[in-house]
Amino acid sequence: MPPIAQEVSIDLGERSYSIAIGGGLLADAASYEGLPHASTALIVSNTTVAPLYAERLRAALCSRYAQIHEVQLPDGEEHKNWQTLQSIFDVLLERGCDRKTVLFALGGGVVGDMTGFAAASYMRGVPFVQVPTTLLAQVDSSVGGKTGINHPLGKNMVGAFYQPRRVICDLDVLGTLPAREFSAGLAEVIKYGPIADVEFFCWLEQHMDDLIAHERSALVHAVCRSCEIKASVVGHDERESGLRAVLNFGHTFGHAIEAGMGYGVWLHGEGVGAGMVMAAELSHRLGLLEESFVSRLRGLVRRAGLPTRGPLLDDKDNAGRYLQLMRLDKKSEAGEIKFVLIDGPGRAMLRNAPDALVREVIDACCS
Ligand code: NAD
Ligand code: GLY
Repeated sequence: MPPIAQEVSIDLGERSYSIAIGGGLLADAASYEGLPHASTALIVSNTTVAPLYAERLRAALCSRYAQIHEVQLPDGEEHKNWQTLQSIFDVLLERGCDRKTVLFALGGGVVGDMTGFAAASYMRGVPFVQVPTTLLAQVDSSVGGKTGINHPLGKNMVGAFYQPRRVICDLDVLGTLPAREFSAGLAEVIKYGPIADVEFFCWLEQHMDDLIAHERSALVHAVCRSCEIKASVVGHDERESGLRAVLNFGHTFGHAIEAGMGYGVWLHGEGVGAGMVMAAELSHRLGLLEESFVSRLRGLVRRAGLPTRGPLLDDKDNAGRYLQLMRLDKKSEAGEIKFVLIDGPGRAMLRNAPDALVREVIDACCS
């Protein structure tokens, strides 16, 4: 079957690029036409994804690059750190890769974020291409140029804005993704509804079962609409001076959950799932959002197979521990936490909230 591709463009002047979405794209040499010329490419993947897809990518690239090197990172969020990043630089230098070498990120958000950061820093910047293989990476992390690694004290604390040259979303690869990971990706799909597009939220309510069943036309629509919304937001505010922060709906609570539980225990998307319900509840208690929308969001998160309640992070002072972790959030200013709140379905805003109210929400939403 020939590849079926839809394209979404991200308009960033000379750093603009396209996101191709469809079946059969990864192994099709045509997907990579027009990328910068170079003699060398490096495929960065991990020990789970490389055995499944690296050979197909290599075959598609072999007519473009004389030498194609490969590095397999250890799999897992807990490896999104300096040591793993260093192993990418080790291979680049050991293989004599020059400043034209093109990096290909073949994997989920962890591989994508680290490859992008390596590309941003190697010889002060080499081109890179995102070939996302999780739903989460296809609808969010591969688009928009946020790259980086975790620090033991906080998630994604070290990194750079650095845009890929192209994003290739091959929907066929989602067939091997574990169901739990697919659900985690749905969290980032769901978030676009409350923050930007209430019609999309209603569509998701109608088609969640089709998505869970990997029905192709539903998947195409969900990935395309998510990428369109993300491309539009990033096109207006690439470096998050304001608007882009809305993409972090649910992430302030979610990042606290991920860090508090230990990276890799709760998946990023699981933290975002519970975090969106908590942020919506906070919006409601601040008088911004009807209770009925909080219930609809909770229902959709549940149907996506995601947790709707946060875990206990501390037996004695759970809310205090959440607050402590959330103060490390990148949106915090002078220790004051800024939450992405929903100011009516389809509209997001960034604002602070009294600690006492945040404590109430955490107490009500965790178990
Ligand atoms: P992940 O990269 O850890 O991938 C999830 C798991 O699925 C891994 O075990 C991986 O090996 C496996 N996998 C990947 N593709 C597969 C496939 N096709 N078949 C079988 N297994 C496959 O996790 P993720 O959810 O993709 O990404 C989460 C990361 O993304 C977090 O680190 C988060 O901070 C980051 N993120 C970044 C942005 C951004 O804008 N840069 C946005 C959202 C999330
Ligand atoms: N995932 C949040 C962002 O890209 O800004």
